[in-house]
Amino acid sequence: MTDQTTADLSWDEWDELQRPAPETTGFDAVVEAAISRRGFLGAIAFGSGAAAMGLGTAASFLNSSSAMAQEAGRFAFSPVGIATDATVHVPEGYTWDILVKWGDKLFSDAADFSHETAIPVESSDRVFGENTDGMELFVIGGKQVIAVNSEYVNPKINLPHTEDGKPQTADDVTILQNFQGVTVMEVEEGEDGWKVVVDSPLNRRITHNTEMRISGPAAGHDLLKTDADPSGTKSFGTFNNCGAGKTPWGTYLTCEENFNGYFGSTDEGFALPDDYKRYGIGLESRYDYEKFDERFDVSKNVNEPRRAGYIVEIDPANPDATPVKRTALGRFKHENAACTLAPNGQVVVYMGDDERGEFLYKFVSNGTYTPGASTDGLLDEGTLYVAKFAEDGTGEWLALTPETTGMSIQEICVFSRMAASKVGATTMDRPEWVAVNPVAVEAYCALTNNKNRGIKPNAGGDDTAVNGPNPREGNNYGQIVRWYPADDDHGASTFNWDLYAMAGNPEVHAGTPYAGSENINSGNMFNAPDGMMFDSSGLLWIQTDGDYKNEGDFAGMGNNQMLVGDPVSGRIERFMTVPYGAEVTGITWSADKRTVFVGIQHPKAPFPDGEGKLARSAIVAVKRKDNALIG
Ligand code: FEO
Ligand code: CA
Ligand code: CA
Repeated sequence: MTDQTTADLSWDEWDELQRPAPETTGFDAVVEAAISRRGFLGAIAFGSGAAAMGLGTAASFLNSSSAMAQEAGRFAFSPVGIATDATVHVPEGYTWDILVKWGDKLFSDAADFSHETAIPVESSDRVFGENTDGMELFVIGGKQVIAVNSEYVNPKINLPHTEDGKPQTADDVTILQNFQGVTVMEVEEGEDGWKVVVDSPLNRRITHNTEMRISGPAAGHDLLKTDADPSGTKSFGTFNNCGAGKTPWGTYLTCEENFNGYFGSTDEGFALPDDYKRYGIGLESRYDYEKFDERFDVSKNVNEPRRAGYIVEIDPANPDATPVKRTALGRFKHENAACTLAPNGQVVVYMGDDERGEFLYKFVSNGTYTPGASTDGLLDEGTLYVAKFAEDGTGEWLALTPETTGMSIQEICVFSRMAASKVGATTMDRPEWVAVNPVAVEAYCALTNNKNRGIKPNAGGDDTAVNGPNPREGNNYGQIVRWYPADDDHGASTFNWDLYAMAGNPEVHAGTPYAGSENINSGNMFNAPDGMMFDSSGLLWIQTDGDYKNEGDFAGMGNNQMLVGDPVSGRIERFMTVPYGAEVTGITWSADKRTVFVGIQHPKAPFPDGEGKLARSAIVAVKRKDNALIG
């Protein structure tokens, strides 16, 4: 495309452009280490943790043929082939339909959607948001309510009156700001399928301008104060809402990922503070907010970006409740928030930081959760940990405290990446979603890819030589790591780990590591695992955000897809493909588990309204024709 602007780049491409990694570590040493370890790791990486533990369930996929035969019955579908077309494909015996697409009305006073003209600014926060992402379904007073993120925008589509999608007025900026954030919407199933309940009192839009409360250790700290908010406890907006999570007490967790891209400087000479560099905050923003909205001009509001990059808790049952930014859960490019409970009731939240060579975290609350009791403080008081993986299949969670980092607790909350670097955590291949198995004490993280692995250090200068769970130099396919907490306790400080799958292409490459692990074959191959969630039966649903050109290293993989994995056998089969250009992201189930809702983000194909129409992100509802359970 000749008219490509920086707004068209993927977020990680943009980060690379904005912020070349510092050259502070020994590049030669990184490469040398990668080369000397490659042969060793290629041989033992898969299942090594499980083998060390003697875990039959975890190691069984190494004997894949017999295990796969035994477990074949767990998959209630015939796998679909790859696709390169402009629509959705699901297995025979299943159907799909559109639940909602960008621009659909949540409230009847919004303007009708037009493929020719922009949605008016007055309607822009009264419609379903752009680029649907993580979502969760809640049952509230007998009604089904989906809370769902709108991660970013497609300005050329959203502002058709502009030449290149660059905002020309403050209203243009407001329109973009309103298309992002979170949508809360009641849904119901009727004879015509699933629909949004327009004008439901539970419907709500949360945007880049919605008032938030800042809580936890960093609330009120000087780093979070601005002229407009000298208290440092009240911010506006939640940004680049990527994956999600759900607490045991029925609130929604939305995760601020590439927040750095919304801030810029009208003063080209503004000296960027050091912490900006680690987080990729530069002089140039992606959507020019700072030119029309001073809050996003870092030369005037140096602390404003430090008020973003958190996990935000939203009460979907109360449309008037103020969302809460939980600083105790750290500040980084939050992918999702996989919430579970330790046996003693402590709340555990697993969280990935999706940037090349960044880290995998978990938060463990001080207090314990008791159904019906107050949850105040559970996400404000606790310990933030970061993962360190050893080569022998063991690992530990390193606590980020003033003692271990030399930083104050407030600094740990705001500059969590620097704290994690100080304790020597394991640099990862872009941690995307974490998923916790509801029927076994184990968790999985999608490490989507990392072209810099073994090539150059992370943004903090940390070594990114190949290591145990990240064993592939220039990792173009991605992998899924899993861990088994010690004593079957997600609150424990040690774990064993193995790789559940290494994506790869056995048609193009021979042998590990680029052909992928044993459970990857020409019939299920994929790249860039990203969204991931377990269903209630313990099957792992895997969504991809990868290269869909279907050529070269990616030949035979087709469009992005959703697969289902059996944790026990290791078997993985393809369930769904989406239109070209789209990633699959966001998954949740209806209360009766007979519908699975799936997010389709940023299609390049003219989906779903057809040729000549604008491409629109959408949530689809997938059912079995016999209305049996799917998840
Ligand atoms: Fe928003 Fe890392 O995906
Ligand atoms: Ca993602
Ligand atoms: Ca991704």
